[in-house]
Amino acid sequence: MAAFGGWSVRVRTFSERLGGWPRSPRRNLHKKKWASSRRRVRGARLALQSLDMSCGPQFGDLWPSIRVGLLCEQKFGALLNGFGDVERAIGQMELQQARDFVYDGRNESSGRGLNTEESPPHCSDPSPFGGNSGRESLETKPYLSVSPNLKCFTFPRGDTTRFNPARLGSLKLLEYYLMDAASLLPVLVLDVRPGHTVLDLCAAPGGKTLALLQTECCRHLVVNDISISRLSRLRKILHSYVPKNFCTEDRLRITSFDGRLWGEIEKDTFDRVLVDAPCTTDRHSVLEDDNNIFSQMRLRERRMLPLIQTQLLVSGILAAKPGGSIVYSTCSLSHLQNEHVVERAVQVAEMEHGMELRLEDLTAVRTLYRETFNFYGDCRVGELVLPHLTANYGPMYFCKLNKVH
Ligand SMILES: C[S@@+](CC[C@H](N)C(=O)[O-])C[C@H]1O[C@@H](n2cnc3c(N)ncnc32)[C@H](O)[C@@H]1O
Repeated sequence: MAAFGGWSVRVRTFSERLGGWPRSPRRNLHKKKWASSRRRVRGARLALQSLDMSCGPQFGDLWPSIRVGLLCEQKFGALLNGFGDVERAIGQMELQQARDFVYDGRNESSGRGLNTEESPPHCSDPSPFGGNSGRESLETKPYLSVSPNLKCFTFPRGDTTRFNPARLGSLKLLEYYLMDAASLLPVLVLDVRPGHTVLDLCAAPGGKTLALLQTECCRHLVVNDISISRLSRLRKILHSYVPKNFCTEDRLRITSFDGRLWGEIEKDTFDRVLVDAPCTTDRHSVLEDDNNIFSQMRLRERRMLPLIQTQLLVSGILAAKPGGSIVYSTCSLSHLQNEHVVERAVQVAEMEHGMELRLEDLTAVRTLYRETFNFYGDCRVGELVLPHLTANYGPMYFCKLNKVH
């Protein structure tokens, strides 16, 4: 190597003497540096390339509009903070011509004879697991109940007005929480009733936890996430939105376990379990290079996702009481992370743990909220909100299982 270094120096002097002797190509002298300066494909671009390959065939003609939606500005909803100055916040929303999409859906449901909070809800006789063919129509099987405490304002289709950042109300709590309004759907579908015990298995940073608390129905809510740093973000949200005296130990427990083990620790315990699984976060991934799950460095992790998602869902199923319900959700478009995971988890729960599960028909949800969201019409199991310029929410996949035993 010393000789190599010396040779490098000699070339320089010789070249100088001859007034421009042709040098060896730079790459031969500094091979390592040349190699490391090659242009790297950035994470967001890799994400888009990967989605082009998988979603193109999956969504066919719909893909170009989904793709544009993903790359354009996302739309938000404002989840009102029921612990804050609600009346003031509602007035402010109405001044801006925003509408509570949950309320609109609730009205639509009563117009169609669906259950509302006023006429206590019941779950439909679940359709046998096995896809759309087993689904019953909205007209014959009304089932959705929606807590009157949940209020989420959105601007109408095609209106891209943004909400102002939330302000502190007179109770020193923020008046609303800005989130992708489609993220509220898994919580609505979970259908928490007064007195329920609820497990939020992958809870951080806490948007859905906050929505669960807003229902004021949870007798006991367990909030879990494997990531301590993300849980600290959740704690900050609770601090900004929920009165301290509401978060008593018997009402709220925050834990940081690997959710895959939960079903073994606390079996047959919860009335409701939300499994909002880690996923490829497609909208985020096509826009952000940093720590991108589509980058080469995270390839193995990405490939492991469907397995981890399945393990988390099986664990959530184990943790639910017989008669309880489980909602699985992701913000991915990939059927490998959505329907396939649900189908595989049901298979594992039935074959390996002797459980019986029923898939709940969510057609009603699609019908109730079709004014606000663009739903994909062809999910085998569950529902998927697709990004679209006219209503740029999602992606958000959700699916509900009822545990018979
Ligand atoms: C999609 S995010 C959840 C978003 C959250 N539900 C919300 O609404 O704000 C997925 C979460 O799963 C957590 N997670 C990943 N693997 C986990 C595991 N094995 N057990 C529990 N949580 C896990 C991640 O730390 C991440 O916070």
